[in-house]
Amino acid sequence: MTAQRRTLVLNGPNLNMLGAREPEIYGRTTLAQIEAECRAAATRLGLVLDFRQSNSEGELVAWIQQARESADGIIINAAALTHTSVAILDALKLVTGPVIELHISNPLNREPFRRRSFVTPAATGLICGFGAHGYVLALEAMAHLLAERAKG
Ligand code: DQA
Repeated sequence: MTAQRRTLVLNGPNLNMLGAREPEIYGRTTLAQIEAECRAAATRLGLVLDFRQSNSEGELVAWIQQARESADGIIINAAALTHTSVAILDALKLVTGPVIELHISNPLNREPFRRRSFVTPAATGLICGFGAHGYVLALEAMAHLLAERAKG
């Protein structure tokens, strides 16, 4: 049952400040509340969840590298590193399972510098603009992708 259902959710810089951080853009839901919602959704969807946050690019790169062995799919909200990090792109290119790029806001209708994503070239798909609920949508998409893969 856990075969091909292990999902790593990665959160980048400043997402530990959700709730306090620009609530008019990101809402008032904290990362701990998002994690709790993800745990409930993962149980419902039959996914094994690993939920992490780091403010460090190097730590995120290391976790993506480790996920080659320990996860079947990655959901990543790389936060500001989305727009700057070739290192995260290169790490994601090593991943063979599905990669879902996730954003709480819709970066495409914000400042021009947010329109470039270094995650998109390595992403299977992109979910953005649905607020904190996007995490649940991403888990539902991941469950579908992994179930399709398991069929072969
Ligand atoms: C974000 C969008 C990014 O542009 C921003 O730097 C973030 C959060 C989002 O979830 O909407 O930190 O990834």
